[in-house]
Amino acid sequence: MPTEPSIHAQKPRPSDNGNYMDRFAEIRGQSEALAAGLSAEDQQVQSMPDVSPTKWHLAHVTWFFETFILKPHAPGYSEFDPDFNYLFNSYYEAVGPRHARPDRGLLTRPALDRVLAYRAHVDAAISEFVAAEDLTDEVAALLELGLHHEQQHQELILMDIKHVLSCNPLAPAYRRKEPAGVRDTHTLDWFDVPGGTYRIGHHAADADGDGPDSAEDGESAFAFDNEGPAHEALVGDFSIASRAVTNAEYREFIEDAGYARAEFWHADGWAVVREQNWTAPLYWQENADGSWDEFTFAGMCPIYPDAPVGHVSFYEAAAYAAWAGKRLPTEAEWEIAARRFGCANDSGSDANRLESGFLRPMPAGAARADRPSQMMGDVWEWTQSAYAPYPGFAAAAGAVGEYNGKFMVNQMVLRGASCATPPGHARVSYRNFFYPHQRWAFSGFRLADSVTA
Ligand SMILES: [Fe+2]
Repeated sequence: MPTEPSIHAQKPRPSDNGNYMDRFAEIRGQSEALAAGLSAEDQQVQSMPDVSPTKWHLAHVTWFFETFILKPHAPGYSEFDPDFNYLFNSYYEAVGPRHARPDRGLLTRPALDRVLAYRAHVDAAISEFVAAEDLTDEVAALLELGLHHEQQHQELILMDIKHVLSCNPLAPAYRRKEPAGVRDTHTLDWFDVPGGTYRIGHHAADADGDGPDSAEDGESAFAFDNEGPAHEALVGDFSIASRAVTNAEYREFIEDAGYARAEFWHADGWAVVREQNWTAPLYWQENADGSWDEFTFAGMCPIYPDAPVGHVSFYEAAAYAAWAGKRLPTEAEWEIAARRFGCANDSGSDANRLESGFLRPMPAGAARADRPSQMMGDVWEWTQSAYAPYPGFAAAAGAVGEYNGKFMVNQMVLRGASCATPPGHARVSYRNFFYPHQRWAFSGFRLADSVTA
């Protein structure tokens, strides 16, 4: 998710302006709530080039509304500060030059208070604009996009601040809350899928003609452009694991010298292991007695053995799969399985996302006979698919066309959702993507096999 959405696949428009403003207030408030427990100093730090300061995120998502909606569409809108276009443009070449991404932590000015004033200024202007205007389809689509964009950055805020805090030798907690009890998981099982041609990708809501977003459709109204067009995918017989790979299972790989045995690794991955001296997932720390702790939002805590392993790179996921004699699913296999077994609208205990409050992957619990667990929560799941355009994909014209299409090279796709994915932002067709060496996202994996029972 280091990139952005596009309006290309935008379907809905707000059913009415009042409803839209409720969602706007809720989502804008969610961003500020995520930052509320952080000091101005916390929100300033950029701990590595991939990380952006919380303050920058809060400003950038605001710049998005100002740049794509207020400035071109709101009559008489008064720009908050012309310098902000340079500071808070992320990567839109069409919008002009911008501050270098690795140097965002150097932006000690504007201060956090001024960024919050910027948010209030834009919030008031959006509110006034929406109340006064009969929104065009184009503007309605941009507003919807702005909300999903902000939600995308909410997970980035959490990914990034976790890394920032992990760099402090005191291992400070983002919050102290830990779950009262942690359940077990189940013995790994497999779900078989017969080979054939299946339809994948986001399709227009209301495919069955009984209204959008119905349970039968199983399809969200909104999607980013990279999730379409829907198309046919041919797969062979395969089976997919009943849950994500756990910390305990991953620890067996470590104890079997997985990080020291080149035979399990891609050449590029092995080079990174050697160069970075990787011996365990990001945030893991071995204790003198051989047990492991991991850095969490509650500070350093013992690993939950039965919870999905997280903060692993694609290289690590693929190496583990090779060690286990299995493989990662393709993204088509993942989506076919999720749709076939009814995981598209996964909810309740199988959907550990931001709203569960755990902010940490949790064990799957008892096996379900009808479907795999954890498909739409806990950890984003690496697939073996390269991030490439679907057949027929075309980026939109203009700045919004930069959101996804230009990143479709050298990255790998992750599917599902994580314990930090905000409400309303998980979809069965969602294509997350990162470079194969990156592991600061909430990234884990499940196994697949070409042999079925
Ligand atoms: Fe963005």
